[in-house]
Amino acid sequence: MKTSTSILALATLASALPSQSVNKRACTSAVKLSGSENVFKSYTLHANSFYKAEVAEAVKNLSDKSLATAAAKVGNVGSFLWLDTIANIEKLKTELATDIPCKNILGLVIYDLPGRDCAAKASNGELAVGEINKYKTQYIDVIAGILKAHPNQAFALIIEPDSLPNLVTNIDETACQQSKSGYEEGVAYALKTLNLPNVVMYVDAGHGGWLGWNDNLKPGAEGLAKVYKAAGSPSQVRGISTNIAGWNAFDLTPGEFSKATDAQWNKAQNEKLYTELFGAALKTAGHPNHAIVDTGRNAVTGLRKEWGHWCNVKGAGFGVRPTSSTGAELVDAFVWGKPGGESDGTSDTSATRYDSFCGNDDAFKPSPEAGQWNQAYFEQLLKNAKPAF
Ligand code: GLC
Repeated sequence: MKTSTSILALATLASALPSQSVNKRACTSAVKLSGSENVFKSYTLHANSFYKAEVAEAVKNLSDKSLATAAAKVGNVGSFLWLDTIANIEKLKTELATDIPCKNILGLVIYDLPGRDCAAKASNGELAVGEINKYKTQYIDVIAGILKAHPNQAFALIIEPDSLPNLVTNIDETACQQSKSGYEEGVAYALKTLNLPNVVMYVDAGHGGWLGWNDNLKPGAEGLAKVYKAAGSPSQVRGISTNIAGWNAFDLTPGEFSKATDAQWNKAQNEKLYTELFGAALKTAGHPNHAIVDTGRNAVTGLRKEWGHWCNVKGAGFGVRPTSSTGAELVDAFVWGKPGGESDGTSDTSATRYDSFCGNDDAFKPSPEAGQWNQAYFEQLLKNAKPAF
């Protein structure tokens, strides 16, 4: 009697939990993706409920009410969901309890390496250098378990923005030297463990103004290939992500920084050129070379004083919406990687994670901590959107 009561109680509780709810629009059989095809040809990047909720809240708080109709449309744009802490793995569970249509692919950013953001401060993470076992067992393994438990759902993963590029260009900095082995071991572990039939992966490769320099192409490609091979050349790795949370135009000619004094040393003057040049270097190095490119905030050019400026660029606008029509052989899709409206870093000079890049003249102020909503910046992105909403 006692037993049957508690079973009943449990069953009642379980039916009330969102994780038990049935996604009526889900696929009815297991999803089979592969690194040898462009999944964005058959799947739409999902507009997740977290960005939808942020935008819905922003619509209520508009300083300029005439923007309301346009603003509301932003929430329907597909974008990546950032799993930037162990606690935020909860977001993935919540999202999977919603009705995701069968032909939608859920985009996730894997972003919690030990010693994260080694060459900057704004996005330093929760795990310290050396906490690689915690990264593996409490972060990657947990995410892998959830993806495995949802074989009928398609996932696209961006793997650890900025991490491997930092090891190429910022290895003279102590923090990056200390992070190196953890980044390589961590990314390899992520690629190996998340290599599931319902998953495709894109390893982050910075952008044209980073690994696009003549001297960085080869070491950059070899750095990525080394980790990919250490992971056992996983079948679900399709290639790279570029311009994540970035500002570069896709095909502007001449490129934005082509008149700079050092322009002769970088032929990757736009992201299209970068994917071609870095793609060729990846091929030589033995790494898959298809790409997805973030166009979330790249509508306006000529705003940055220097190519390397990355924090809340003033005057930016929402760019091209996610699509697999890129006109470029190696580019699978334009995506929204960074959820536009979330900050890149705080402008509060007294904050622990204050980075001087967020105090530059071309950075928008005031800005909250990285990842936090910036209402005024969202309105600016909307006003400057191309195409307009
Ligand atoms: C930054 C933040 C991270 C956030 C992401 C997306 O990198 O550090 O917490 O999730 O941007 O806005």
